[in-house]
Amino acid sequence: MTAFKPLVFSGVQPTGNLHLGNYLGAIRKFVALQADNDCIYCVVDLHSITAQLVHEDLKGQIRSIAAAFIASGIDPEKHIVFNQSAVPQHAELAWIFNCVARIGWMNRMTQFKDKAGKDRENASLGLLAYPSLMAADILVYRGTHVPVGDDQKQHLELARDIAMKFNLDFRDNIRATGTGVDILVGDEPVHAYFPMVEPMIEGPAPRVMSLRDGTKKMSKSDPSDLSRINLMDDAETISKKIRKAKTDPEALPSEAEGLKGRPEAENLVGIYAALSDRSKADVLSEFGGQQFSTFKPALVDLAVTVLSPITAEMRRLMDDTAHIDAILRNGGERARARAEKTMAEVSDIIGFLR
Ligand code: TRP
Repeated sequence: MTAFKPLVFSGVQPTGNLHLGNYLGAIRKFVALQADNDCIYCVVDLHSITAQLVHEDLKGQIRSIAAAFIASGIDPEKHIVFNQSAVPQHAELAWIFNCVARIGWMNRMTQFKDKAGKDRENASLGLLAYPSLMAADILVYRGTHVPVGDDQKQHLELARDIAMKFNLDFRDNIRATGTGVDILVGDEPVHAYFPMVEPMIEGPAPRVMSLRDGTKKMSKSDPSDLSRINLMDDAETISKKIRKAKTDPEALPSEAEGLKGRPEAENLVGIYAALSDRSKADVLSEFGGQQFSTFKPALVDLAVTVLSPITAEMRRLMDDTAHIDAILRNGGERARARAEKTMAEVSDIIGFLR
């Protein structure tokens, strides 16, 4: 039994400002994975037009995600950073996957139902096909591991379903072309062209909640800017938002158990823990029994210490668009070389003449 070569792939949409939730939940994980993996990080601009077609300054949005990746410590030379539309093979493989996936599979996606709302007939066809493009993003590199938030789990299950159906439907051609790999799916041996992607959900802070309501996720679409810390916020703004963050009147508990039923306290302690690479229990062993009036200034100091160098580097990069564009272009070329090889093999497996 052989195995696919491990490859980490993830994508972030260029819509709206990046906030602390994106940083702690995704980007910091991307940074940590670099040490031991081959990684590809993609600004998924093709996905950004599925829910809303026209964007103000889409180019600027794409550059700002790339700048955030690099300012946070992603190395675009050892790994690959690029924007999706620069590699047409994503859309090409997505078309094939549109013919592999069934309409029923797409209709069951909770994110589609949420985003389409009541007027489903009027959603774009692209929004329905979104998960098929996402599967193509990963599988055009035969990616194996995908760091994402838990809201993307269902999309990754669909990517596995697509890979499995392709592997089974084209089994004989995969063998005939000599492009497959023998893997186990459960205890079932499968001769596979595409790997079964694995989500990597765990992490220091998979869910960062709103500063105004500890039961809602921190989100770029929340109308109140006080609900989130943006990666481009300056120290004063971070300080104001944390000071105004909703809390309850109790002191902090000494143990993590005591955070149950106190979503705002849990969120702020969780943010402190993630920013300092400590556990919540460890943070509470220091701050247990103290009031928020003591804890909040400590959290402000920590957040500013961690975020301000990133913000400064992001601003510097954003001022030098030629440099960012060169990084994306170089990443795009290296990504395309890999994707072209996959598409040549996929075309051969399907039986296209080219
Ligand atoms: N759907 C993902 C999100 O909204 C973004 C995304 C697109 C993605 N393609 C991907 C994530 C491929 C991981 C792998 O968060």
